Amino acid sequence: MDIALINPANGLPLEEAEGALVDAEGHRFPIVRQVPRICDPSNYTANFGKQWNLFRATQIDRPTEGQTQSEQRFFETTGWTAEEMDGEDVLEVGSGAGRFSRVVLERTRARLWSVDYSSAVEANYANNAGLGGDRFRLFQASIYELPFPDGSFDKVFCMGVLQHTPDFEASVRALIAKAKPGGQIAVDFYPVKGFWTKLHAKYLLRPLTKRMSHERLLKLIEANVGWMMGLSRALSRVRLGALNRFIPLVDMDRVMPGGLAPEQRREWAVLDTFDMFSPEYDNPQRVARVAKMFRDNGAEVTFAGFRMIGASNTAIVRGVRK
Ligand SMILES: C[S@@+](CC[C@H](N)C(=O)[O-])C[C@H]1O[C@@H](n2cnc3c(N)ncnc32)[C@H](O)[C@@H]1O
Repeated sequence: MDIALINPANGLPLEEAEGALVDAEGHRFPIVRQVPRICDPSNYTANFGKQWNLFRATQIDRPTEGQTQSEQRFFETTGWTAEEMDGEDVLEVGSGAGRFSRVVLERTRARLWSVDYSSAVEANYANNAGLGGDRFRLFQASIYELPFPDGSFDKVFCMGVLQHTPDFEASVRALIAKAKPGGQIAVDFYPVKGFWTKLHAKYLLRPLTKRMSHERLLKLIEANVGWMMGLSRALSRVRLGALNRFIPLVDMDRVMPGGLAPEQRREWAVLDTFDMFSPEYDNPQRVARVAKMFRDNGAEVTFAGFRMIGASNTAIVRGVRK
């Protein structure tokens, strides 16, 4: 059975009429470029809208070139199998350009409901509409105001998003609420590992960079990425790689050693460096704290810890809604 859409503000059902989703009180959510917009489109995620529309294809897997990072991360983070997802309703929150939407649509027979708060939904639509036919529904909406009744989904996943929301625990609560009793929730996020986590170029420079215009920040990164990549590699060669945390660059050599051609490596570095410096919110968390948030908000924790995925030690919490 299809999941009923609701107006998150009043719980009333939404029906499609004249290019919008409309409730019985006449509240309208326009469908713009094929995607229903359930929120104010100008919000704190404009940086993500910019980056994912500019770098729409960069992080989408290219299986024919042996690149399957997103597939690997999706299945290892969630612990789910394609077989168990067959015919299930799956919610993805914070889908960005749709690297994981693509995996679910191509590798499973699940029905996928994806949302993102930014105009990245347009990149996801361009990348993935048409894959999976009517198994794919996409909305611009916030994790805090989702257009679905509580208890709707067999599975809920949210990858690389929670640290970028203003209230981490409220976000975890919102994800758990949308799972059915017995439904599974899986998240990955930036971890706090110790006092040194914030002794990093990112946290030292972010107070400045997050206030810069996105155009200016992007130009600055593009102008400097070349020498920074060179310096980062040189430091690693002379075993001073520990100093790389003070170079304001996401070092693709370390994230994906040997995994990318040189031109792609540069593109990933620009994208991920912009992603590191531009967000309004960046609140890493300790894994044990996130596990507690799961328990305090109605889920039993089935895994809380780190998994080596590619070259990244990824912080993961999984749970089942009680
Ligand atoms: C770092 S990106 C990750 C995108 C995708 N999951 C991936 O890993 O490629 C974080 C995404 O979270 C989205 N986001 C931030 N706050 C959100 C919110 N309140 N509700 C829904 N999405 C949100 C952003 O718009 C952005 O696309």
